[in-house]
Amino acid sequence: MCGIVGYIGKSNATPILMEGLSRLEYRGYDSAGIAVREKKAIRIVRSVGKLIELDKKLKSNAPVGTLGIGHTRWATHGRPNETNAHPHKAGPVVLVHNGIFENYGELHRYLAKKGHTLKTETDTELACHLIQQRLYDGLSMEKAFFKALSEIEGSYALAVLHEEEPDRIYFARRGSPPLVVGLGEGENFVASDIPAILSHTRRVVFLEDGDAGILWRDRCEIWNLSHKKVRRPIKTVNWSLSTAEKGGFKHFMLKEIFEQPRVVGDTLSGQLSEKQRRIYLRGVDPLFSGNGSFPFDKIYLVACGTSYHAALAGKYYMEEMARLPVMVDQASEFRYRNPILDRKTLIVAISQSGETADTLAAVQIAKEKGAKVISICNVVDSAIPRGSDTTLYTRAGPEIGVASTKAFTTQMVMLLLMALRLGRIRQTFSFGDETFDALVKLPKQIQRLVEIDLRDLAEKYAHSPNFLYFGRGIHYPIALEGALKLKEISYIHAEGYSAGEMKHGPIALIDRGMPVVVLAPQDKTYEKVMGNIEEVRARGASVIAIATQGDKQIAKKCQDVIYVPKAPWYITPILMTIPLQLLAYHIADHKGTDIDQPRNLAKSVTVE
Ligand code: M6R
Repeated sequence: MCGIVGYIGKSNATPILMEGLSRLEYRGYDSAGIAVREKKAIRIVRSVGKLIELDKKLKSNAPVGTLGIGHTRWATHGRPNETNAHPHKAGPVVLVHNGIFENYGELHRYLAKKGHTLKTETDTELACHLIQQRLYDGLSMEKAFFKALSEIEGSYALAVLHEEEPDRIYFARRGSPPLVVGLGEGENFVASDIPAILSHTRRVVFLEDGDAGILWRDRCEIWNLSHKKVRRPIKTVNWSLSTAEKGGFKHFMLKEIFEQPRVVGDTLSGQLSEKQRRIYLRGVDPLFSGNGSFPFDKIYLVACGTSYHAALAGKYYMEEMARLPVMVDQASEFRYRNPILDRKTLIVAISQSGETADTLAAVQIAKEKGAKVISICNVVDSAIPRGSDTTLYTRAGPEIGVASTKAFTTQMVMLLLMALRLGRIRQTFSFGDETFDALVKLPKQIQRLVEIDLRDLAEKYAHSPNFLYFGRGIHYPIALEGALKLKEISYIHAEGYSAGEMKHGPIALIDRGMPVVVLAPQDKTYEKVMGNIEEVRARGASVIAIATQGDKQIAKKCQDVIYVPKAPWYITPILMTIPLQLLAYHIADHKGTDIDQPRNLAKSVTVE
């Protein structure tokens, strides 16, 4: 996830671009840059780090001109450094990009053969060279732009300038990255999100998947990717700036819950080839091949907080699919005991931020003891990936809400893909069309779940001082995560337990009306879970069941039921997570707590 902004008008572009980027910094903040057309040429200024670093650079010598594009980066291909920062340039073509080009390798080989030398590690630079190549082939800039778009596979939002065309910005949107056009008086804008342009205009066009166009000072034209004209409605937005920054949602947490269909889709598409119906773990596969035989005899999953819950679920995936012993540790414990590690141990360190001090220390200890480390992380080139042998990046985009939501579901997806891949390599789990279809369907199923309205249910239980969450098997970690979400943001005391443990103590807590959230999928544990529901009901609990669509029996036994679609056992825990996030969110919202920045918590825990 990156932020892009473009301006064409009569005013100086630099401050407009910088203000726009400051409103988009939530989308990425590892480097930033602008390109402004001065009298005869385009001047590019870029800087690594947050926008303030770019601002410092511009203080002494900012470009002046009435046309420009800018970018704030969240690295996917290539480390966050100044060379990889956008805008990129090839000949007269200057470009900013949000998204991922999937046929990177193919384009790279083609352009190398044509004599292009790439200066950066980014996929973005390829697009500049591809357009430049089409200009060499004799096409006009407009035709070269559309030709290049037809050759690029993947998802993108783009804004492009041609050095000798001072009167236009080219733009395109394909797949998930958003892009809006803002229409002013004698000036126009293009941006990843409304806040970037809100102080200049409220008249916007939300571009659709496959839209591409040209912005002049006084007009905008839009085509589809086959270069056929399309018409899009102009809308007037009445949002305040702070509402706009949250995409119209009341809190970042809710926005991030709603982003899950997209970011889960992005995380899947990074590792799946839909054409070949195969999973690739890019960058990680070589670690599994050893000298012809599988090189590891055990796996440790190490993490903290929500990431630890993902690790607990990952154990079920990996033991079932890869048939390897898997140990799960809280990083804060792992670092102070004496775990048995050697060259045949694989450590998987899971962290959204990549900065958590305990997880980082665990990685360092594991490396010292000769183990191989793969990290699953959301922040490119952060400390944990840098300390690991290799990294699988989730593509959740920046998570602003302190309570982790989309990071968790994307971690679950990555652990599932890893288990499936290991199962294939070790020939312990056969993965056919049914599994592939289930993965591809997942974003749509999540979309249906985020739309469930749980406000009334939340209001009903918001005044309860205690909650219990029960689950069995892989749903036990999901119960833990549900309880953590509730306590973090609503300050209600909540505990997660494996349903089988209930009789060994927690049942003593149950009193009349106590809410008990039970994860009750129709799997091999179903009858046992139904037994647990009877037991807590008999003691007066109010049961909120998360159950499989079509399960009528459960509705008769519980006060409230939230249904999730029927899916294979490895998909259901991801689906069941969504109503738990929403329940916690709406209870906290009803109580009026500070949801995005709950008391006493920090987004990344970089100290012990
Ligand atoms: O960035 P990390 O995934 O390493 O963070 C780990 C925990 O600090 C984090 O998951 C924390 O528990 C969140 N507040 C959970 O919502």
